[in-house]
Amino acid sequence: MNFELTEEQVAVQQAAREFAQKELLPGVIERDDKQQFPKDQVSMMGELGFMGMMVDPKYNGGGMDTVSYVLAMEEISKIDSSASVCMSVNNSLVCWGLEKYGTEEQKQKYLTKLATGEQIGAFCLSEPEAGSDATSQRTTAEDKGDYYLLNGTKNWITNGNSASVYLVMAQTNAELGHKGINCLIVEKGQDGFVVGKKEDKLGIRGSDTHSLMFTDVKVPKENRIGADGFGFAFAMSTLNGGRIGIASQALGIASGAYELALKYSQERKAFGKEISKHQAIQFKLADMATQIDAARMLVLRSAWLKDQHKPFSKESAMAKLYASQVAMDVTVEAVQVHGGYGYVKEFHVERLMRDAKITQIYEGTSEIQKIVISRELLK
Ligand code: CAA
Repeated sequence: MNFELTEEQVAVQQAAREFAQKELLPGVIERDDKQQFPKDQVSMMGELGFMGMMVDPKYNGGGMDTVSYVLAMEEISKIDSSASVCMSVNNSLVCWGLEKYGTEEQKQKYLTKLATGEQIGAFCLSEPEAGSDATSQRTTAEDKGDYYLLNGTKNWITNGNSASVYLVMAQTNAELGHKGINCLIVEKGQDGFVVGKKEDKLGIRGSDTHSLMFTDVKVPKENRIGADGFGFAFAMSTLNGGRIGIASQALGIASGAYELALKYSQERKAFGKEISKHQAIQFKLADMATQIDAARMLVLRSAWLKDQHKPFSKESAMAKLYASQVAMDVTVEAVQVHGGYGYVKEFHVERLMRDAKITQIYEGTSEIQKIVISRELLK
């Protein structure tokens, strides 16, 4: 078994680390405070190839593997999870879904711009009454011959305002249950499509989370992804890969907090010596580093399985379940290592602690991951 990264993977990791330090770190506290979307930084991420990393170069993507993607996600999430969730949704849910299941026309029209970051995508599954229970879609896509008439509301949509392209799940035939759901590509600015208010959140406050309202929006038939009724299977398949992205985000939040705690513990003195020389702190650091390494193994394994075209839905759910718990545990401990300083904004760890919580909620709560895992175990 080879645990070494390739030269290319190390280069991607290094590039993401440098970008995060140079371009994301300055202003991250202010953006969190003002709930400001990192627009300029996301556009630089597009120029550097971070927005369509795994897309085939013939559609303007980076043609990289999933392992490189998770390495970049970890580095960017160490500093700014509002930027990395935008990156994760665009890469794993929107670009991947379009490339895997879209028509050639859809790829030429949408994927070529999404892969460069010239346009940003959003994945619209959640509704006011359909979060974890995603089969209960209330948004409807009535079949009108050569177009669908889209009506309904979506909630908690990442990139809700900054996106130009929206993949919207909607019920066409309620009698067929989840087999009557379609995924439609909707463009910003279409008649009847309104972006609602930005959510005022605990963490990832710079990220652009909105509700979306659709009233008699006409969506041409050629904007449906896959066969009639494929929408729910599309969403599930896409989310299996999306969970690798969020798991790597959780890993980045944890490792970012750990690195800050390690550094602080070697600088801060108490009782006549650096606090890292006290066993109480050493035990915390050892626990944090061990948990992070275990999470990293799960994240890299799920990415590697995906790259090998082997089944990975159980493993990506395991990676997300565990890495998000580690993100919570490690960020709480990082605040504790910092003492009172950990509780104020300029030391960053309180923000990382707030950001960690969402990784246990979006792209399926921890309870949903356990459902996915146990179903595979009991198959
Ligand atoms: N992979 C592939 N297919 C899956 C699947 C998976 N992980 N999980 C379920 N399915 C399939 C089932 O096989 C079944 O298909 P068939 O009928 O053809 O056999 C179909 O989906 C329905 O499954 P169930 O009958 O088991 O439905 P259920 O209602 O009991 O459970 C669920 C389904 C797994 C709980 C699903 O609703 C789910 O995953 N919910 C969570 C939704 C979620 O993750 N939302 C995140 C929103 S996106 C987001 O957060 C992005 C962002 O902004 C950051």
